[in-house]
Amino acid sequence: MQKIIYILTLLSLSFTISAQNSDKIKMNKFVDDLLNKMTLEEKIGQTVLYTSGYDVITGPTVDPNYKEYLKKGMVGGIFNGVGADYTRSLQKIAVEETRLGIPLLFGYDVIHGYKTIFPMPLAESCSWDLDAIENSARIASKEATAEGINWIFAPMVDIARDARWGRIVEGAGEDVYWGSLVAAARIRGIQGKDLKDRERAMACVKHFAAYGASMAGRDYNTVDVSLVELWNTYLPPFKAALYAGSATIMTAFNDLNGIPATANKYLLKDILIDKWKFDGFVVSDYTSVNEMIPHGYARDEKHSAELSMNAGLDMDMQGGVFMKYLKELIAEGKVLEKDVTLAARKILIKKYELGLFEDPYRYSDSKREKTDIMTAEHKEAARDMARKSFVLLKNDNQVLPLTSGKKIALIGPMIKDKREIIGSWSAMGDRTNVPVSIYEGMVEAVGEHNLLYAKGCDIESDDTSGFEEAVKTASQADIVVVSVGEFHNMTGENNSRAGLDLPGVQLQLLKKLKETGKPIVMVLMSGRPMTITWENAHLDAILDVWFPGTMGGAAIADVLTGKYNPSGKLTVTFPQVVGQIPLFYNHKSTGRPFDASTNYGSRYWDVSNDPLYPFGYGLSYTTFEYADMKLSSETITKNSPLKISVKVSNTGKYDGEEVVQLYTRDVIGSITRPVKELKGYSKIFLKAGESRIVDFTLTVDDLRFYNADLEYVYEIGDFSVFVGGNSQKTLEGKFTLK
Ligand code: NOJ
Repeated sequence: MQKIIYILTLLSLSFTISAQNSDKIKMNKFVDDLLNKMTLEEKIGQTVLYTSGYDVITGPTVDPNYKEYLKKGMVGGIFNGVGADYTRSLQKIAVEETRLGIPLLFGYDVIHGYKTIFPMPLAESCSWDLDAIENSARIASKEATAEGINWIFAPMVDIARDARWGRIVEGAGEDVYWGSLVAAARIRGIQGKDLKDRERAMACVKHFAAYGASMAGRDYNTVDVSLVELWNTYLPPFKAALYAGSATIMTAFNDLNGIPATANKYLLKDILIDKWKFDGFVVSDYTSVNEMIPHGYARDEKHSAELSMNAGLDMDMQGGVFMKYLKELIAEGKVLEKDVTLAARKILIKKYELGLFEDPYRYSDSKREKTDIMTAEHKEAARDMARKSFVLLKNDNQVLPLTSGKKIALIGPMIKDKREIIGSWSAMGDRTNVPVSIYEGMVEAVGEHNLLYAKGCDIESDDTSGFEEAVKTASQADIVVVSVGEFHNMTGENNSRAGLDLPGVQLQLLKKLKETGKPIVMVLMSGRPMTITWENAHLDAILDVWFPGTMGGAAIADVLTGKYNPSGKLTVTFPQVVGQIPLFYNHKSTGRPFDASTNYGSRYWDVSNDPLYPFGYGLSYTTFEYADMKLSSETITKNSPLKISVKVSNTGKYDGEEVVQLYTRDVIGSITRPVKELKGYSKIFLKAGESRIVDFTLTVDDLRFYNADLEYVYEIGDFSVFVGGNSQKTLEGKFTLK
């Protein structure tokens, strides 16, 4: 019987494989036949992407004549244009008015939700919940495809260790291991299993590569990182996203070790094609081809087109230079026609896989537009994701959760806000009515009669005229919840900050409120770690809610009132002061690590090396204790993995979730290694008083890294292993790799 099942399984597997092969043969034939019919201009046209001017423009508009080009079949895709009717109208031109009727791609930046806005990506990463992250991307993709979008410019997977960099908001933080898992989850969410699924778009992982290492945290700035650093820190999330199936990839604005990423053969050919066998297409960032001129790398636009096409770029976003110069460059023998054909082919393959040749209007569905957006399910998912992403940074004397029956003063510029709450890059999210403000969330949760309100001040101005009323209001309450933070547009593209304190007079307001002697809970809204050292020292509780999205106010009320016990853990380090940046948990030891007993350990004169809050940190309303760490062996070998177990107990009064984290340290390496590296985690739920043994398994593959010759190796020698509730407070064990 077993034999028969085995044979049947083999047969059905071989049927599936041969069906897949025949689909592939059919697709290749279709695309090659089409390419044979195409003129050189039409092939070049496929490599051209223009912004429509319909929606926010995310850079300078180079050519407003895109519609004219479109009619001539010289445009392969349009971005920044949404809506079933609008995309249908442009698609109609492409399909009905051009010689070969090749359908368009429609791209859009759907970064954390489309209309139902989810927490900003950095916040989502603090949930340590890959299913929820994948679901958030799925919903975003579903809503965007209902409005004609078939190509999403996300996820951003740039590792970021500099909170000054505004785009830190778009990633998954500072860690390579976690960043790679999140990258893959987001690709799965955006694309699903099959690009033909009408409810999923094609993803575009960005920005290749090392954009997050912009010097001094200033956007677009130079990047200079060693190859070892590139391979160990910046590339893994890209590899994870591509191996999870990302159909496309976007180059970065920056240069990398002297060569702009957009014309960087090492990145685009040696790594993407030769090493990773990527068969999707590569799009530039917005005019990043043209920007090689100010970079001092291309002489003029024509040269920039030559350099980038020859380096392996397939599509020019908004630069217009492929359209203008490729034909001439081919005639001059500076670019090979076969390379342009190959680029067009890769793009056409994706259009085929999306099903656009079968039905070019499949994403412009005015029915779905009405039914699939902002549904109750989507809003509930956004609320849940928001609660999961909040990080409780401080909670002295258990002032949180708020006890019922108390008078609560709600103070601060964020309390009634409906714009900042959805954050930057919030696509088509409603910015006025729909988002639930903190005030509305709290009214719903505790009733208006229990609330007092005063704005106190603006986010950024010198005006202190609201302080008096704020202090008066606070004095009448039992507890003060004050919500302060950044403007949404202090983060995101080109929104770097040199200082990370609260803007304007918000800190002054906090100091005034402190004088009332009332317990103060700060609800911090920001797109990045902030230097909240005074706040940490003087306020009773701090809840970081990031930019929580459409349902933010409801989610905040859930957590403040204890309906939901917070469990988020930081995926970025909070510095005490900006001068410590870049500050990240997985740094190297140095030859003179800090040692209080000598003057010659690496240190600052005026501040300790410690972060304000470390990576992995986050409190709960309950408490967890770690004990009995056990290793299955003193050694690990290729054939014998190591098991690590630890007893985690909920020692507080509330049921709650804990993110149990596992780190290792490779003590001596052929290159110096980080003091700690995350290698595993487990998010567990424990009832008050409950204990559980949490198990991890480490294999030698988990201990690999890129050595000085860029070989991905593990090395024999001693290791430490750490388990704990954050990157600093851990139990430690030791083992040897043999
Ligand atoms: C520039 C940004 O860097 C990129 O992330 C975005 O996708 C494009 N503009 C398109 O809006």
